[in-house]
Amino acid sequence: MEIKVKLAESLKFLRAKVSLKPTIGIVLGSGLGEFAETLENEISIDTEEIPHYAKSTVEGHAGRVVFGTLHDKTLMVFKGRVHFYEGYSMEQVTYNIRLMGAMGVKSLIVTNAAGGVNITFSPGDLMFITSQINHFFANPLQGKNDEAMGPRFPDMESEFDAEYISIAEKVATELKIRTQRGVYAGNSGPTYETRAEVRMFQKMGADAVGMSTIPEVIVAKHQGMRVLGISCVTNLGTGISQTKLSHAEVTETANRVKNDFQALLKETIKQI
Ligand code: HPA
Repeated sequence: MEIKVKLAESLKFLRAKVSLKPTIGIVLGSGLGEFAETLENEISIDTEEIPHYAKSTVEGHAGRVVFGTLHDKTLMVFKGRVHFYEGYSMEQVTYNIRLMGAMGVKSLIVTNAAGGVNITFSPGDLMFITSQINHFFANPLQGKNDEAMGPRFPDMESEFDAEYISIAEKVATELKIRTQRGVYAGNSGPTYETRAEVRMFQKMGADAVGMSTIPEVIVAKHQGMRVLGISCVTNLGTGISQTKLSHAEVTETANRVKNDFQALLKETIKQI
């Protein structure tokens, strides 16, 4: 089935439940989902109910989409996402972004948990993504292009919006939240990186590495969205850190910084 047809069916389902017209979309990564509970006038839908939406299989990644308002903004928030390492296609892992576009979203805030490969970072740092490196060896725009959805050869210059980064940085300073700027490299996972891979990502110019976000940002750019990306550096990469990496450590760190993360997100949304 063509993606256009799937999207039309999903949209029909959502429109029957939601009359809000979201302009800002948010994807909440591992351990960062609680923000979705702070919305007003919220309508929360299990993503499994949406026709053609893939089922999340990972613990700590509840699949919900929450519509609601915050300040004078209308939001569409995905709590959790589906990942390439779960065995889903690039089309499936970026379906959230296509749905946001179809609902009218023009600005996207993507968030994730990531491993720091920049040795000056500490677990718990929040990093604004300035650029990304696609190391998935796949691209969600491979295959036939529908010009009505976006161009065949999208420009990836300024894939992360410089004005949004400045606004968010100013907010962080006001809130006394320590942040970093850096390059995010995306690796398919589900293995964490080897020591050699961590050194490779450092040499490539990455500051953090994770298993998501890249395909979503590509599809957001295809649709002409403005994008802000925030990584929560939940751990340092293998070989930098003395501790053994685990999913528990990732969610624990995300949990520790959730108040700062939520405050930063809320105030930034007000200003974009
Ligand atoms: N590597 C890849 N993905 C991650 C990491 C990591 O160290 N931490 C959280 N997500």
